[in-house]
Amino acid sequence: MCGIIGYIGEKKALPIILKSLKKMEYRGYDSAGVALVENDKLIIKKKSGKLDILKKELKDFKNNSTIGIGHIRWATHGEPSDLNAHPHNDCNSELTIVHNGIIENSNELKKSLIKKGHIFKTETDSEVLAHLIEEYYKNNKLEEAVKIALEKVNGAYGIVVFSLKEEKLVAARLGSPVVLGIKNKEYFVASDVAALLPFTKEVLFLEEGEIAILDRQGYKIIKLTGGESIRETQTVDWSLDEVEKDGYDHFMLKEIMEEADTVRASMRGRVILEEGDIRFGGLIDVMDKLKEIDRIIIVACGTAHYAGRIAEYVIESLVNLPVEVQYASEFRYREEPLDKKSLVLAISQSGETADTLAAIRKAKENNVLTFGIVNVVGSTIARETDAGIYNHIGPEISVASTKAFVSQLVIIYLLAILLGRQRKLSRQQAIEILDELNKLPEKIETITAQASKIDEIAKKYYEANNFIYIGRKLNYPIALEGALKLKEISYIHAEGYPAGELKHGPLALIEEGYPVVAIIPQDKVYKKTINNLEEVKARLGKVIAITNEEDDLIKKVTDDVIIIPKTLEILNPILTVIPIQLLAYFIAKRRGCPIDQPRNLAKSVTVE
Ligand code: F6R
Repeated sequence: MCGIIGYIGEKKALPIILKSLKKMEYRGYDSAGVALVENDKLIIKKKSGKLDILKKELKDFKNNSTIGIGHIRWATHGEPSDLNAHPHNDCNSELTIVHNGIIENSNELKKSLIKKGHIFKTETDSEVLAHLIEEYYKNNKLEEAVKIALEKVNGAYGIVVFSLKEEKLVAARLGSPVVLGIKNKEYFVASDVAALLPFTKEVLFLEEGEIAILDRQGYKIIKLTGGESIRETQTVDWSLDEVEKDGYDHFMLKEIMEEADTVRASMRGRVILEEGDIRFGGLIDVMDKLKEIDRIIIVACGTAHYAGRIAEYVIESLVNLPVEVQYASEFRYREEPLDKKSLVLAISQSGETADTLAAIRKAKENNVLTFGIVNVVGSTIARETDAGIYNHIGPEISVASTKAFVSQLVIIYLLAILLGRQRKLSRQQAIEILDELNKLPEKIETITAQASKIDEIAKKYYEANNFIYIGRKLNYPIALEGALKLKEISYIHAEGYPAGELKHGPLALIEEGYPVVAIIPQDKVYKKTINNLEEVKARLGKVIAITNEEDDLIKKVTDDVIIIPKTLEILNPILTVIPIQLLAYFIAKRRGCPIDQPRNLAKSVTVE
């Protein structure tokens, strides 16, 4: 999981590459590197650590190369170090490569290349690709050497290669995203659109098994299996502004503050209010098939999985269909029977999560209908599912997912209404939910306006070593999400539990001052959760509650209360999650954590 960039054109490549890498920092930050040409020689500059360290090193470095490649690394094979940083080169330093992905048979390939006399300098699987291409690079046709080399490789790759012998870049993808950018006589290759936006909005997503050749005259796409691919570029409508912080200290806060708009954007053009119905462009061709399905299996990871756990309640209640939510990494290896009337629904912000993609591929092998709820347009899951729904909320840059989760929930409600209307849900019931969904953006704004109050609460608890989050029904997944958010960005140990489970074990942890976050809106189970909070208070724990009103019951059992507006019980999670996200954010900020880039994590998990 890394970011790759390549440039060939009329301008100096170095500043362009560095700017693109900056936009991809969320993909990895273990090391950064660039390869350029100087006096007919390959110049490689690379440094472990964040991009800024490399930039500092290059402060006085002058270079006029108009061709070059760059890389930002999230280590898989080989520790993060200067040596293991990309780009990597061949034995003669004539050919250089950047790679995102994993070469699974790298050990075998390396052994046979060493026997043939190749000399390796690093511990990475990626260096194997440089030597493998060198091995087949005979007649000044780099793309042919790349093609033969890739035929020998098992695993996942998005690569860009260039050689001193030819004025061209060769890029290829299998399992890791690669997108081309085009602007007059300038050509770019990157891992994602965000890296191209400072330069162009004209893009072309490479398909699996495609190789792109970019020279100063244009580009051509060929297939690994042979033959040429002729495809049009597309114009992306994400503005550069959308990928910048907009004055906030962190992308995470910016993305939370965008959540009112996220709800609007996720609904835009999809709701036919007076009919109580939903239209998704991506589902038009499968509407009849949807009437036939009798079971839904949701596959997803992390935060997207918790959105799925809420979908379970929502779909069961509005559609009356059995729903099962599985971790994609488990589903892919299970041997459960899958029948043709099932629908496998993948939820993925990036659309590139390797486990979720594998789950979808497994479903397809079993001839089961597959859907995706995906944010990144043109991503692999979006392309490989039979049908799907885009979030349409612009890029999410912070590693911790926030606005994507809110959007996933909105899409889930809309999808449940669509499926429900095909079955038992009345027009009136649907209109009631849609009406209330329309009101949520304003309600969200009243919660984000409480940011400084939530920061004050964070101030009281940010030094705690442990947290427990509890909730019931639809808010139990919010408790899980709250704990995940807190641990990933603040490194505080946190657990989410169904409130009723507290007394079956976790209550033993509670002692004086132990913080418990309760997601306790005034719903049918409100009083049940109040009882659980009594149990916490009796053990001198501290209670931070997220609820709708400071009534006498809640006053008695809480230390801090965050008030959120009332909504329909079924829609509560869209509102309850927001204080949860803000609390995690402010706690992490007070602890001085690198919020947008938590240690050991990356935004797009394209490895197993
Ligand atoms: C947590 C987080 C991760 C992702 C997970 C799935 O804040 O961001 O848990 O939700 O890696 O990613 P996507 O949605 O891209 O499949």
